[in-house]
Amino acid sequence: MYKQIVRPFLFRFTSDYAHEATIKFASTVSKSPALLKVTNSFFGYEDPVLEQNFFGLKFPNPIGLAAGFDKNGTTISAMQNLGFGFIEIGSITANSSTGNPKPRSFRLQKDKSLINRMGLNNDGVQTISRRLKKAKADVPIGANIAKTHNPSIVGEKAILDYKTSFDMVKTLADYITVNISCPNTTEGKTFEDPEALNSLLTALEVKKDVSLPPVLIKFSVDLSKEQLKELIEICETHAIRGYVATNTSSKRENLQSSPRVIKNAGNGGLSGQAIKQKSTEIIEQIHTLTNGQKTIIGVGGVSSTIDAIEKLMAGANLLQIYTGLVYEGPGLVRKINRELTEFLKNAGVEHVYHIRKIKDL
Ligand SMILES: Cc1cc2nc3c(=O)[nH]c(=O)nc-3n(C[C@H](O)[C@H](O)[C@H](O)COP(=O)(O)O)c2cc1C
Repeated sequence: MYKQIVRPFLFRFTSDYAHEATIKFASTVSKSPALLKVTNSFFGYEDPVLEQNFFGLKFPNPIGLAAGFDKNGTTISAMQNLGFGFIEIGSITANSSTGNPKPRSFRLQKDKSLINRMGLNNDGVQTISRRLKKAKADVPIGANIAKTHNPSIVGEKAILDYKTSFDMVKTLADYITVNISCPNTTEGKTFEDPEALNSLLTALEVKKDVSLPPVLIKFSVDLSKEQLKELIEICETHAIRGYVATNTSSKRENLQSSPRVIKNAGNGGLSGQAIKQKSTEIIEQIHTLTNGQKTIIGVGGVSSTIDAIEKLMAGANLLQIYTGLVYEGPGLVRKINRELTEFLKNAGVEHVYHIRKIKDL
């Protein structure tokens, strides 16, 4: 039904408008116990083979909502009832921001991809923390934090900005993702510089503060092997518990869309199928660099069960989806969970933890 009716309807509107309308609708659903129940009866899916524990948190299934979809934490209950096994809200920044001028997100339909330059629009950490305090969820909720979109906030001020958000969400979120890879601010990805990352993680006191929830770092898909290695070496000296791989791409590779469509979209981060393979390669590299000892959340172009399996086989322990929802609709979560369960059972693998064993069969 999504592809036949809902998607053609939504695609008549701009990508920005369609997303805003979806968030409004999901926020309304979130406030209505009756609508949540209906949502759950259509989209919920449970099977013990999909349940996993990481950092002492129980994930009922490995499919999570990627950051950026619910930047303000207004749709948490709806997303849980859509069947997501965990939800990452944000990016949240110390100061609220309206983001870049619209239009700021674009569909590349031939590529099942998006280009966005949202510019970290969000209600700010104070408002979102209040929401997070009230949120009722049976699945882990991650808070993704980034630096306020303001080119005058650099150096020490930038670190303080991250720390403001970090300190506010640390008692509220089940895990924190530090987003150092947003391609959509004028000041760029300053903290993908190893020295700057070291200063940031030192200031956040990830290693010293034992009361913290697990802290993960989110990387860009555009990192070279060498850059990734350097950054992971820094992270590993700071007790980082896992990695989110990956964010969007500033490159325009692997595209079928016409040069006109690509040019019309302009600057921004590319997501969806066009970055799928590169993001899987980064997951594989992180898995190797950390000897499979760290939790990896794989994200980038997951829009089918095969995509999900590929990323899990590459070393991801959990997955996230954003662009796939736009093209495949909300039923995608249940579909992947159901088909993944079947796949594991048919292969004689007793649990999703052991999916990499299938590689060796
Ligand atoms: C419109 C849009 C906004 C996004 N905003 C954020 C964000 O605020 N913070 C973040 O860490 N990632 C953000 N992302 C990146 C996604 O979380 C994800 O890493 C990326 O889109 C790749 O996954 P996908 O191919 O499933 O979309 C955004 C992606 C899109 C499409």
